[in-house]
Amino acid sequence: MLSEIEQRLDLPTARGLAHAVSRAIGDGVLAPGDRLPSIRMVAQQLGLSPTTVSAAWSALARSGAIQTRGRGGTVIADHRDVGPSRYRRALDVGTPFALDFSTGTPDPELLPDLRPALRRMERVVQPSRYLDDPVLPELAELLRDDWPFAPERLTVVDGAMDALQLIVSAHVRFGDRVGVEDPCFPPLLDLLESVGAVTVPVGLDDDGPMPVDVRAAVEQGIRALFIQPRAQNPTGASLTEKRVSELSRLLRGTDVLVVEDDSAGAVASSAGLSLGVAVPEKTLHVRSFSKSHGPDLRVAAIGGPARLLDPLIDRRFLGQGWTSRLLQNVLVDLLTHVPSIRAVERARHAYAQRRAAIVGVLAKNGVAVQGKDGLNIWVPVRDQSAAQLRLATRGIGVASGGPFDVRAAKVEHVRVTTGLVRRDHEGVARHIAEAARSGAWASPR
Ligand SMILES: Cc1ncc(COP(=O)(O)O)c(C=O)c1O
Repeated sequence: MLSEIEQRLDLPTARGLAHAVSRAIGDGVLAPGDRLPSIRMVAQQLGLSPTTVSAAWSALARSGAIQTRGRGGTVIADHRDVGPSRYRRALDVGTPFALDFSTGTPDPELLPDLRPALRRMERVVQPSRYLDDPVLPELAELLRDDWPFAPERLTVVDGAMDALQLIVSAHVRFGDRVGVEDPCFPPLLDLLESVGAVTVPVGLDDDGPMPVDVRAAVEQGIRALFIQPRAQNPTGASLTEKRVSELSRLLRGTDVLVVEDDSAGAVASSAGLSLGVAVPEKTLHVRSFSKSHGPDLRVAAIGGPARLLDPLIDRRFLGQGWTSRLLQNVLVDLLTHVPSIRAVERARHAYAQRRAAIVGVLAKNGVAVQGKDGLNIWVPVRDQSAAQLRLATRGIGVASGGPFDVRAAKVEHVRVTTGLVRRDHEGVARHIAEAARSGAWASPR
């Protein structure tokens, strides 16, 4: 085993050793459950100091590649169950609810009608060659007109999750530190964990990532920072001009890649701000059309510098290649026909009203909710499970906060998709307020 690791050891450092072990795992030479020799033996055989080996083991353990099992020694972790585990936990509310506000999805009644657009798709455009530009020129023009900065390159992908997945595989390596918002969209945490990245939490206030935490993350050597510029899921935080300049100042001159996931897009009420205005050379901005035009369109766009985007556009040609031009045509139609434009405007107002109505009643009932925009609210509760159970008895489903938390939470939360509350906002909010106060049981501590 040690000779296999030695063959892959390019640098006699902790990072070099961690990389060698991860490559041996990737090559199938080290299998889940294999026990690693003691730190002393590894150090002796590879001519490294025990401190270096121990630092490599800590990095590998943090990324989940190895596990320490007390007397069972240190073993290669079993990643056959790596997958959307937080995602599943966040959304698995069990029995269907009469009023399911757990999903984070848009209200189907507020999406533009696809039928007229589909009827207009008489002409299915085929690429003349497989290596044609993956973006339909009409769509590229619409995107450029509405992009928060002038992107050097633009591409279209199959939704924001596809964008994040492509960006992570092109730019995040095993063991990289990556700044993430806390609380964070759970699938992003699952994705980063799956490639062995080490997440560095950055706290949020109403205006987005807090500068003090971003500075600390930069000092810890993060390779990338993933943020949501507006209508953050779950909190509803949105960047302000002031925050954009504060964060840009901290990031300028560093080699941190900034990834902005604008998943709410056109249904967010806040302006579409971006750090790309100030630090375009390091910003990849993602805009999803799932919330505004329908999750099943599976269309999102990424814009940013060619240096950062071309590697993933090229790599994609070895797989999916491009996002169906048929779907791109449907989106062009939806973005240019007045009834669909009006439908998206109506949706934006409805989401803002629904959120405000619920937050207002919660405030009157002593429950203060952070954030200002979007389809979700992040409700502080005394006990997450008790709150969920209490709401379940009223036929209301909400998502548990645990999977969104990067650090162990000081205060527990549930996420409520206010965007799905069509009526009786007063009643629903009262139930939520009541649930926020419920404790499991009075433990005799
Ligand atoms: C923050 C965030 N990013 C990404 C996504 C996924 O978006 P898409 O449907 O475009 O893949 C969501 C969906 O809820 C989201 O909330």
